[in-house]
Amino acid sequence: MSWKEKLDLDRIPKHIAIIMDGNGRWAKKKGFLRAIGHENGVGSLRNACLTCAQLGVEYLTVYAFSTENWNRPKFEVNALMSLMVSSLKRELKFLQENNTRLEAIGRIENLPKSCQKELKEVMEKTKNNTATVLTVALSYGSKEEIISATKSIAEAYANGEISLDEINEKEIDSRLYTSDKPDPDLLIRTGGEQRVSNYLLWQIAYSELYFTEKLWPEFNDEDLYEAIYDYQNRERRFGKISEQLNS
Ligand code: IPE
Ligand code: IPE
Ligand code: MG
Repeated sequence: MSWKEKLDLDRIPKHIAIIMDGNGRWAKKKGFLRAIGHENGVGSLRNACLTCAQLGVEYLTVYAFSTENWNRPKFEVNALMSLMVSSLKRELKFLQENNTRLEAIGRIENLPKSCQKELKEVMEKTKNNTATVLTVALSYGSKEEIISATKSIAEAYANGEISLDEINEKEIDSRLYTSDKPDPDLLIRTGGEQRVSNYLLWQIAYSELYFTEKLWPEFNDEDLYEAIYDYQNRERRFGKISEQLNS
């Protein structure tokens, strides 16, 4: 039986987040430049989108470039930025056919102008698509996101718009880049590292974490089904005890 056949289609996670890691190591293993690894990673993302749309996953949020990734060699940063532009151009047709809406989170204003322009265009053209919302985290860092939410609350407080009592979980949620999305049910990290690298720290408070040795360019449909199957076999207790869950 394949992983897909084992899935309970009534309990598909609503929101999957992915840390797409391992492109560089995949390329190195094959004797290619790191940039070739990133190029092949785009194909894995396309597959993941397709699978999510077919399964009815409503939100797919992927980590494509972190605030810390700006510290990589300039050559690699440039290669990633031009790959972003060419992929956005190339994948628009796929997104439309797949009824996928593109969104972005992070410090988009720090990306090169060409990249911002392409992103804006694809987001505008796909905004009425209704299958999956694909959110790409670009120049994204969770600590930066939380700092910016904190500043906006401090400002609102200073202006008398909110009181101390009104600063609660919901208020903070509403000032994060992800304010219009539910928290991820499942966070997948490829590439073998077991860390979150500044990704969605607040939002993954109760997400199920899934780590796999598979490098991102080789992560395929079966791997995604397997991760979802694993998720479906966990008990999400949210602090309660098992006996309370079905009553
Ligand atoms: C993830 O792959 C993509 C980005 C961070 C942009 P890496 O480039 O981190 O690949 P490894 O971890 O070096 O193999
Ligand atoms: C996390 O991967 C960021 C992305 C996948 C975009 P990194 O490769 O940058 O993470 P670390 O440095 O291994 O923690
Ligand atoms: Mg990495």
